Amino acid sequence: MELRNIRNFSIIAHVDHGKSTLADRLLEFTGAVSRRELKEQMLDTLEIERERGITIKMQAVKMFYKAKDGNTYQLHLIDTPGHVDFSYEVSRALAACEGAILLVDATQGIEAQTVANFWKAVEQDLVIIPVINKIDLPAADPDRVKRQIEDILGLPAEEALLVSAKEGIGIEELLEAIVERIPPPSGDPDAPLKALIFDSYYDQYRGAVAFVRVFDGEIRPGMKIRLFSTGKEFEVTEVGAQTPRMTKFEKLGAGEVGYVAASIKDVRDIRVGDTITDARRPVSEPVPGFRPAKPMVFAGIYPSEGYTYEELREALEKYAINDAAIQYEPETSPALGMGFRVGFLGLLHMEIVQERLEREYGVSIVTTAPNVVYRVRFKDGSVKEIKNPSELPENWGVIQAIEEPFVLVTIITPREYVGNIMSLCQERRGIQKKFLYLDQNTALLEYEMPLSEVILDFHDRIKSLSRGYASYDYEFIGYREEDLVKLTIFINNEPVDALSFIVHRDKAYRRARQLVEKLKEVIPRQLFEVKVQAGIGSRIIASERIPPLRANVLAKCYGGDVTRKKKLLEKQKEGKKRLKQFGKVELPQEAFLTVLKVD
Ligand code: GTP
Repeated sequence: MELRNIRNFSIIAHVDHGKSTLADRLLEFTGAVSRRELKEQMLDTLEIERERGITIKMQAVKMFYKAKDGNTYQLHLIDTPGHVDFSYEVSRALAACEGAILLVDATQGIEAQTVANFWKAVEQDLVIIPVINKIDLPAADPDRVKRQIEDILGLPAEEALLVSAKEGIGIEELLEAIVERIPPPSGDPDAPLKALIFDSYYDQYRGAVAFVRVFDGEIRPGMKIRLFSTGKEFEVTEVGAQTPRMTKFEKLGAGEVGYVAASIKDVRDIRVGDTITDARRPVSEPVPGFRPAKPMVFAGIYPSEGYTYEELREALEKYAINDAAIQYEPETSPALGMGFRVGFLGLLHMEIVQERLEREYGVSIVTTAPNVVYRVRFKDGSVKEIKNPSELPENWGVIQAIEEPFVLVTIITPREYVGNIMSLCQERRGIQKKFLYLDQNTALLEYEMPLSEVILDFHDRIKSLSRGYASYDYEFIGYREEDLVKLTIFINNEPVDALSFIVHRDKAYRRARQLVEKLKEVIPRQLFEVKVQAGIGSRIIASERIPPLRANVLAKCYGGDVTRKKKLLEKQKEGKKRLKQFGKVELPQEAFLTVLKVD
């Protein structure tokens, strides 16, 4: 296909504004699939995606459209993930396009992810077609949304198209606009191969498969390719595109989008954002913007009772073949035994991994409360990234400063919830950066905030404080030094490292109090008094006492029934097997879980 007849574009939208429905409608209108085949949403292939109604995996679909000018155009629709955890993937998918459809729900108007995604498209210099969806609904207010598009995004309101993805209204006009307004790709078919990887997945038959946009040159089976970031080389076994089924082609040419398979065993070899080039005639410069996936949130994952460490390890290994973004390393917790410390892109990513391990890989797991990665600067000038608070040195004196990751949070909310949301953000150590009204009823707020405060339960709180109406998005802005301290739990004067964590000094007292009270509830009474304390270093800031049990189990047995006594002692021994010893105190695993999961 000639370059001038190719169009590459994405649909960007806030969650639930109708992206998948519109994609289906485009496929149907261009005849790529029949209505019957559409019963199952074609683009969302993973089971979990369908159940949760979210898009995790990006894919790229090729379709042909005969336009009113008489020409047939080859359209590549590149799917982008909708959630904030995957914002880097969104930016790479957009880098593969020349244009984007900005889809806004006519009943909801612009929301946080609409704005965030809009700016990502602007950064990539894309032509943006504003599209107002769901105009079939009685509550639709397209004029209000048009005003928002003009006032908030600065796009001319008359450029907005009105559609109903559900009813199939305005689809042809949209396809005409794609062909007319989005420029064809430019590229040199004779130059050395330069292709951008914007997604990957593991295929049982093909091995790890890369979705790519070819900028220059072409890629064919039999060709030796090189990956820019690692220098690794592979021989191409198959190229093709989703139509929407995986379909083989002879080659992918300049300007085209499709998939490449090359007997690659591990998805981690094909990193999103990396450049593929010809091993015999490599380019000197990669496509700009590559960065390796960097997990921001870590948590411990341990096998639940009845499952072994080995089973968990196998499941994680298998899962990781499919997900280049997770990191894991073995870790041992005195309370939970052998397990792994696992790094995720964010909380949603963590939930997905947890769910898939249990559902698809058959292990039941226990996950500890997540924490962010802290950066510790030592007085000797060295710097260490800490993924687990127990890695902090005993001797606090060697530490110069502790830094934590900060994000810029953008919140869009109906006017009446502004007060609630401002107090929440203040409570979470947020620094207000922006506050403006987008229209009579809608406000936009921006806060700089520690990521640790966002991963706590920010999502649930914002939704409940706004009855579900406020939306938010955030992006990483860098590490900042804060007045952070390590809170340690002592049980009968013994420090319990597994329960230590990092907290801001201003919040240390409250957290310490909460924790010791919680522990007092969950630690069973012993034959002697137990002291539960929380301290910063060795300075105790909260303390509780668990009084001793008066009677021991034998007290009930008057007289001399020896067998009964034995039985009771036997039973008591059974119960002890699942206890963990701390100093002289034995704690049930349950006690640790309650605390490690406390927020
Ligand atoms: P994510 O994949 O979660 O980002 O959502 P999405 O943006 O792909 O939204 P999806 O296509 O799943 O649509 C969300 C809901 O809106 C579904 O219940 C659709 O049936 C409905 N919907 C989509 N388009 C229209 C429309 O034009 N009119 C009406 N009435 N409903 C629509």
